[in-house]
Amino acid sequence: MVTILRARGDRSIRSFIDYERGTISRELYVHPDIFEQEMEQIFQRCWLFLGHESQIPNPGDFIVSRMGTEEVIVVRDRKDKQIRAFLNSCRHRGMKVCRYDQGNNLVFTCPFHAWTYDTAGKLVGVGYGNHPEAYGDTRPGDQWGLAQVAQFKNFHGSLWATWDPKAPSFEDYLGPFTASLRHCLQSSDGEDGGLEMFTPFQRHRLPTNWKVPGFTSVTDGTHAAMTHRSAAAAGLHEDRGQGKAKPGTPFPREMYAIGDHNLGHGGQCTFYNQPGVPDYTDEWFEPGVDDYFRETAGRKAQLYANRVLAPHGWGGGHFAIFPCVMVDSWRIRWYHPHETGMVERWTLCGVDKNAPKHVKNAVRHYVQRYNGPTGFFESDDMENWNYVYPASRGVRARKLDYFFANGLGHGKYDDRLPGVVVNGAYTEEAQRARFSRWLAFMEAKSWDDLYPVNTSKNHRIW
Ligand code: FES
Ligand SMILES: [Fe+2]
Repeated sequence: MVTILRARGDRSIRSFIDYERGTISRELYVHPDIFEQEMEQIFQRCWLFLGHESQIPNPGDFIVSRMGTEEVIVVRDRKDKQIRAFLNSCRHRGMKVCRYDQGNNLVFTCPFHAWTYDTAGKLVGVGYGNHPEAYGDTRPGDQWGLAQVAQFKNFHGSLWATWDPKAPSFEDYLGPFTASLRHCLQSSDGEDGGLEMFTPFQRHRLPTNWKVPGFTSVTDGTHAAMTHRSAAAAGLHEDRGQGKAKPGTPFPREMYAIGDHNLGHGGQCTFYNQPGVPDYTDEWFEPGVDDYFRETAGRKAQLYANRVLAPHGWGGGHFAIFPCVMVDSWRIRWYHPHETGMVERWTLCGVDKNAPKHVKNAVRHYVQRYNGPTGFFESDDMENWNYVYPASRGVRARKLDYFFANGLGHGKYDDRLPGVVVNGAYTEEAQRARFSRWLAFMEAKSWDDLYPVNTSKNHRIW
């Protein structure tokens, strides 16, 4: 199927990507028609990340999250304790039903005319409901509950949803990245679902197109030395403490940039080449924290005595789940588009839910130094992303292409992750894979055209 960009000379979307040269037209980042089509064909269809179950442990607990440009209420029902997600838009005449970011509710009452929904989304009352001169026999019934997502998944504590009933199961959507995501949601001793998240969501509003950070920040290995130069100079790089980390016994591993051109996921990746886990190295300056993590690492080593760590495990690089969820061993960061030139970046950072208080405090402080409003690394990145958009969208600038050819043609399939292309650690393989899947979504009429994917090794686009 060909889609036409009306204001730019009737071109197909495919024609804006040059596979031979490895370039992508800036129009795909700045044209409002493209943005509208992305919201319809990507964000209405894909599995999107909503939050973490530890944010809503009790009946009636809720968070307000987003799916693309729209808000959703994620709530644990008071009766059956199940978590569900609903569009935050009153079925009467569209008012935002819940205006809080998080909390605990008996019911959700719309501030406009008092239509009232229970924590399972059911309409249980309306203003003037019993007034004979109001609704009478036209009083709305069960079909006027809040609009619920088509599919919902609690994957080891992480909460995901899609508006599309035809989307494949969440595990099929993840494909070969399933084990990596599961590992990143484990506590440091290797127990499934062992994390809790620091709340609330950390949010940054960025005046740029969602794909600038969403498609290019993982993996963007060549940006770090320049962009994060000042933070590195201040000693705030990967060390949690103050440079105490000592190299342990070398553990056999290989690092790459990888891209799944069929499913769109990819990023940095470490393959581990023998069972077990690398030696724990002390890295915290707060007293007692290394003692805790050394002990949990020991338990994890027993668990993995005869097992090989999942790719990306043990801090082995961050990866993206299509369209724009970035996962690594200590945080999930993801993007909510608002309009062509505006996106919100949300972050959740986790800690072992069973850790003692002094450990949780130390991890929280590290997160704040690194990631938060007072942190260094995120503001470094955002400064660049924010200037990209205005410098790319002018009538002259948008006629140029972006360069995505770093490592083009040098990727190879690797049976450790079936269907995934493995390339040099500083290449742009992951970004190209995201655009391969992006194009498939933008051309597809429905999920029938998108899944199952063609895993033939001859099928690769780039
Ligand atoms: S818009 Fe919600 S009750 Fe009218
Ligand atoms: Fe960065």
